[in-house]
Amino acid sequence: MSKNSDYFVPWLKDAYSYNIDVLDMAWANPDVARLMLNENPIPPSQKIIDAVTEVCEKGNYYPDRWWNLREKIGKAYGFGAKNVFLANGSSENIDNMMRVFLRPGDEVILATPTFTLFRVRASICGGKVVEVPLRESDLQYDVDAMLAAITEKTKLIVVVNPNNPTGIFIDDDDLRRILKTGIPTCIDEAYLAYHPEVPSKVPLVKEYPNAFTSHTLSKAHGIAGMRFGYLIAQEDIIEAFEQVGLPWNLSLMNLAAGEAALEDTDHLARKVKHNNDWMKRYYKAFKDMGLKPFEPHGNYMLVDANDFGLTSQEIYDKAMEDKVAVKIIEPIHGKAGYFRITPGTDEENERCLKTMRRIFVDEATLRNSRPPNRLA
Ligand SMILES: Cc1ncc(COP(=O)(O)O)c(C=O)c1O
Repeated sequence: MSKNSDYFVPWLKDAYSYNIDVLDMAWANPDVARLMLNENPIPPSQKIIDAVTEVCEKGNYYPDRWWNLREKIGKAYGFGAKNVFLANGSSENIDNMMRVFLRPGDEVILATPTFTLFRVRASICGGKVVEVPLRESDLQYDVDAMLAAITEKTKLIVVVNPNNPTGIFIDDDDLRRILKTGIPTCIDEAYLAYHPEVPSKVPLVKEYPNAFTSHTLSKAHGIAGMRFGYLIAQEDIIEAFEQVGLPWNLSLMNLAAGEAALEDTDHLARKVKHNNDWMKRYYKAFKDMGLKPFEPHGNYMLVDANDFGLTSQEIYDKAMEDKVAVKIIEPIHGKAGYFRITPGTDEENERCLKTMRRIFVDEATLRNSRPPNRLA
C-alpha cells in the first residue's frame, strides 16, 4: 500500500521549513521578553484599532482589490495603482516571487546570512538556493561573488536592504551592477521605515524593469499580527503576482489596518523614535561589556560575542533564565557566537541589559574569559 507521502511533489522531502516554535513559546509565556523576532513592542494606535473594528461590520462581503489604497501607495513613490500588489505581509511577496519565477531546478541567488524565509519558500517550489556568503571582513554584500554565481538557471536574485540580521545597506553602485544583469531582482525594504533619512530603492524600478521592491508594515508600523505588505514593480510583474496569488488574499481587517497604519504617521514616528533611541543605548552598553555589536539599522542588532566562547544557543539558554528571548543566529563564517536582539518595551530592555551584564560581565569573569578590551 502506498503512503500519502509517495504522492507529495518529490522536491518537498528536501525542502526547508520555517520553524516558528519560538512564537508558540512566546504566546504561551507572555512574561518572556520577545526580543527575538523583530517585532514592534508598541501596540497599534487607537486609529488603527478603530479602523479595523469599523470594517468588521462589512465582514459579510468579499473584499475588492482596494484600488484607492493601491493608488495612494503607488503615488507616494511616483507610481500608479497598477504598479502595486497588496500582500498578506511581505512573506506573501516572498512566496509569490518564488512561484512566479522558479521552476523546479531553477536557481535563486541569496546573499547569506539573510531572512531565511527566502530559502524556505524557494525550496518549496523545488528551486535551488545558491547561497553567496556575505564578505567575511565586513559582512557586506559580495557582489563579485554574486555575479560569478549566475548561471543560465538563475531566475531570481534577492537583496535585503538593510539586510537582516547584519543591518548592512548595499551600495547603489553594487546594486546597479546586479540590476544590469536583467535578472529579476527583489529588493526587500522591510526595515527601511526606521530610516527616513535613507532613500528607498523604488526609483530603480523605473530605471530597471527587472527590479521590484518588497515592503511590510510589520516592523516600524508595528502591525505584524495584522498582516500587511506590498510590492512595487512594473505592471507585468504585478500582473504575474496577481495571477499566482489568491484573490481576496487580504481580509477587510488587514486592509483597514494597513490603510490606517500608513496614515498614522505620528504613531509611526513615535515607534521609530522608541526603537532608534534604544538601539543607541544597546549599542553603547554592549560595547562597554566588551561585546562587538554591528551598527544597527532597522529594529535589530547583530552582536558578535565570539570572544566569550559561548554558542548562540548557549547565550539564548542563559538569557532565558531571566525570561529574555534573543534570536539564535546560525554560525557565520564558522563562528557560532553571534546573537541578535530587537528592542522591546522599556522594562524588557532594562531586563535584557541586566541579563547581558550577568552573562558577559559577572559570569564571564567567573569563567575567566573576560576579554582584554572591556571598557567598563
Ligand atoms: C527581510 C524581511 N523581509 C520580510 C519579512 C517578513 O515580514 P512580514 O511577512 O511580517 O511582512 C521579514 C520578517 O522578519 C524580514 O526580516
